[in-house]
Amino acid sequence: MGVVVPLDEERRRAQNAVAQLQALVAQDMEDVNEFIRERMASEVPMVPELASHLINSGGKRLRPMLTIAAARICGYTGKDHIKLAAAVEFLHTATLLHDDVVDESDLRRGKKTARMLWGNQASVLVGDFLLGRAFKLMVETRSLRSLEILSTAAAVIAEGEVMQLAAAKDTGTTEDAYMRVIQAKTAALFAAAAEIGAVISNRASNEEAALESYGRNLGIAFQLVDDALDYGGRSATSATLGKNVGDDFREGKITLPVVLAFRRGDAEERAFWQRVLQDGDQRDGDIEHATKLMARHGTIDATIARAQHYGAIARDALAIFPDSQYRQALIDLVDFCISRTY
Ligand code: IPE
Ligand code: IPE
Ligand code: MG
Ligand code: MG
Repeated sequence: MGVVVPLDEERRRAQNAVAQLQALVAQDMEDVNEFIRERMASEVPMVPELASHLINSGGKRLRPMLTIAAARICGYTGKDHIKLAAAVEFLHTATLLHDDVVDESDLRRGKKTARMLWGNQASVLVGDFLLGRAFKLMVETRSLRSLEILSTAAAVIAEGEVMQLAAAKDTGTTEDAYMRVIQAKTAALFAAAAEIGAVISNRASNEEAALESYGRNLGIAFQLVDDALDYGGRSATSATLGKNVGDDFREGKITLPVVLAFRRGDAEERAFWQRVLQDGDQRDGDIEHATKLMARHGTIDATIARAQHYGAIARDALAIFPDSQYRQALIDLVDFCISRTY
């Protein structure tokens, strides 16, 4: 029998792993938040109302912290990392607004989603507004390479979401296809956020590549864990997550815990997965049964183990940088992304 770790102990451990990074970037992040507040302003009242609902509901601000820390680890002394970090969070916020429409999600950051309060149409349009404002911030830095990297990422994220749509309800989805989706929809932005920190610092290409690799592999680990948490992995609940546990199941999204359960299951189990996901015929008790099958085949643990593997790659990518508080904080961030319950 495993040792039962109390929930708040897990949360405390995860929080410790991110606390050092938060402390190091605290001043810069205040400036980032200032830009975010300033640049979501609009004379059309519904725009800042809807945007601030989401932006002021918290959020971990992981991606802009990556940009700041990457710039600092590269010894950057200018100011443009602030605007780029704000642009990165705007891109992220826009994808969340769009994602909640596509996923028909009701809860985000512990609050009703914007689409529940203002409707799908307004959510999509304000997402577009934030994308526009993100690009304006990038242009102001005059870093054409950063603009190139972030605009590529924005398109790749959308491709990832479309790929996912095409794979929805398809229980035959392979692990490789799933990996392609999460690399695009999630890891691309983590990678870009970290890489541009090196780009504006004019660092050698190996440092840029190292930060890109760190971000990409961290992003993969992050999404793997997200998909485990969506099935209540690590005892996550809707309350701890701020999102509804079971969303992926209800909408027939094919994530790794399902891909593996389908592959490892017998004929009867496969018939179950086909009924609930492919045919969308879900009844009371199905999600509990799904969780039971996942436990039988250890697919949540396997998903976390995959996350640990990518986390290790992210950590090792930082080896070329001399030891520093920033490097250590980025290494610890890997632990946070893997042990997080929110
Ligand atoms: C949510 O990202 C979208 C995913 C890639 C799973 P976060 O979990 O970083 O969202 P916030 O910004 O902290 O709410
Ligand atoms: C997140 O995918 C990817 C993007 C937002 C582009 P999910 O659909 O798994 O994210 P959550 O669970 O809604 O945060
Ligand atoms: Mg979603
Ligand atoms: Mg999710």
